[in-house]
Amino acid sequence: MKTVVVGAGGISNAWLPVLKTAGVAVAGIVDLDPARAKAQAEKYALSPVISTDLKKALRTIRPDFVLDLTIPDAHCSVTCTALRAGYPVLGEKPMAQSMAQARRMVKASEDAGKLYMVSQSRRYVDVHAGLARFVASGKFGALTALNCAFYIGAHFGGFRDEMDSPLILDMAIHHFDLARMISRADPVAVYAKEFNPRGS
Ligand SMILES: NC(=O)c1ccc[n+]([C@@H]2O[C@H](COP(=O)([O-])OP(=O)(O)OC[C@H]3O[C@@H](n4cnc5c(N)ncnc54)[C@H](O)[C@@H]3O)[C@@H](O)[C@H]2O)c1
Repeated sequence: MKTVVVGAGGISNAWLPVLKTAGVAVAGIVDLDPARAKAQAEKYALSPVISTDLKKALRTIRPDFVLDLTIPDAHCSVTCTALRAGYPVLGEKPMAQSMAQARRMVKASEDAGKLYMVSQSRRYVDVHAGLARFVASGKFGALTALNCAFYIGAHFGGFRDEMDSPLILDMAIHHFDLARMISRADPVAVYAKEFNPRGS
């Protein structure tokens, strides 16, 4: 298979080696900043088409799928562009920056008849997978409630510093998805309230 990777930032360091191991050819890297795309290609000894124009890259390369590794606010436009051009998309979390964007993405996938899926990478971390297996084994008894306390000062620099609610928008999806996996249930309602500790 061959793919076009869109977004050559931090998380591409997790994906590019895995694609190589899986035998997926990185035929193109698209980024608004071509220097980033070029640097990542060199770092991983790849020779893809480097572009800032996704539509043009898709026309030239005709990949089997598109990998959307852009920032959350760009997921909707990048993913919809790829789907409308007829290509399936595997994207990074979070799916989108708003419900309206998420709905547009689902519609673009349905209209095109092409798969759009979001990576749920934390499901494959050993401790999470082990905990899910243990709960599923029943040795623990029936699950009544599941709690997760997550505190982090998400000052990583980059796009999260520009977001109004980086924990809820960018990070909490990991724990929410793990709760789905461990409980083997889908949500029926969600309530969220955010606050900043004094001095943060
Ligand atoms: N699964 C995980 O554990 C995990 C970990 C870190 C990040 N992520 C996710 O990966 C995504 C990217 O994070 P990152 O840390 O690599 O961000 P980053 O800011 O380091 O890189 C994003 C790249 O996308 C490019 N870009 C932005 N808009 C674009 C567009 N419209 N078209 C083409 N390129 C565009 C930027 O120029 C940049 O190079 C985020 O959604 C983030 O939440 C997931």
